[in-house]
Amino acid sequence: MENKIKDLMQRIEAMKASNEQEIEELRVRLLGKKGEVTALFEEFRTVPPEMKKLFGQKLNGLKTAAQAKIEELKNSVGKQVSSSSKTDLTMPGVPYLTGSRHPISITRNEIISIFSKSGYSVVEGPEIEDDWHVFGALNFPPEHPARDMQDTFFVTSGDNPVLLRTHTSSVQVRAMEKLPLPIRIICPGRVFRNEAISARAHCIFHQVEGLYIDEGVSFADMKQAILLFAQEMFGKDAKIRMRPSYFPFTEPSAEVDVSCNICKGKGCNICKGTGWLEIMGCGMVDPNVLEASGIDSRKYSGFAFGMGVERIAMLKWQVKDLREYFENDLRFLSEFETAI
Ligand code: DAH
Repeated sequence: MENKIKDLMQRIEAMKASNEQEIEELRVRLLGKKGEVTALFEEFRTVPPEMKKLFGQKLNGLKTAAQAKIEELKNSVGKQVSSSSKTDLTMPGVPYLTGSRHPISITRNEIISIFSKSGYSVVEGPEIEDDWHVFGALNFPPEHPARDMQDTFFVTSGDNPVLLRTHTSSVQVRAMEKLPLPIRIICPGRVFRNEAISARAHCIFHQVEGLYIDEGVSFADMKQAILLFAQEMFGKDAKIRMRPSYFPFTEPSAEVDVSCNICKGKGCNICKGTGWLEIMGCGMVDPNVLEASGIDSRKYSGFAFGMGVERIAMLKWQVKDLREYFENDLRFLSEFETAI
């Protein structure tokens, strides 16, 4: 028996296996019901009592060695599998999706950054406003059609009803009421109009309002400020033109066109063959508006302008349907990933 134990011990030490199946076969061969180690334990019963202690110890040592060998083989085979066949280090990595800014935010941020370079600071005002700040203080006569239920979402009725602002010009009024002069601000924000949703109109959209009030501000200053903006936004070669217009809060008023950046002024279907695209309204702040907010119109003058952010973004990226901005379709939004 002593020789059998010695012989088996040597064979166990030399055992090798290259996969899990072979290890399992070894385990059965040694420790299974009919295994060699198990068989020696059977034989142990016939050992004379005085030898039992010695052989018992040797047999237990053999069993422990067999178990340890099986574990050792399992570990080394497991390592080979994980480092060789399962991982292909030459595979391309899995790209992970990053978010991107919404085109309206990108455009609004760009407008803000252009004007902040000229010293304009950002002022925001409430979206739920009263009639005075949206219309009254801006020289809208009481019967003006813009106050009509068809355009404005009213929250309450009465003499000075609460409503959703229809333009960011209301923030001008709040600024003139509380800021020290001179004032040089831009006011980005959401506005609301009671309109049917279509490719060209939405009931919620975004505007940026600009206001500059100081002593001796002239129409020429306004023209220069807007030209600088157009060139930063649409490219160094951009030109602007002003067409006479009317707004209750400015006198004189104008509408500003920028030369079409797609056909470079030659005429295409984006500019409808004119070579020009309308980008904003502007004008010299009406003295009535200055006085309504307590500013001396004999001492101070100023200009104001207002533009639609969706419109600027549409012109910049040739977006044809305004509804795309609100549908959150990732195929549309991901086109702006590289824009900023
Ligand atoms: N508030 C006008 C609108 O909603 C835009 C506008 C035009 C703003 C002329 C101005 C301005 O400040 O001077 O259409």
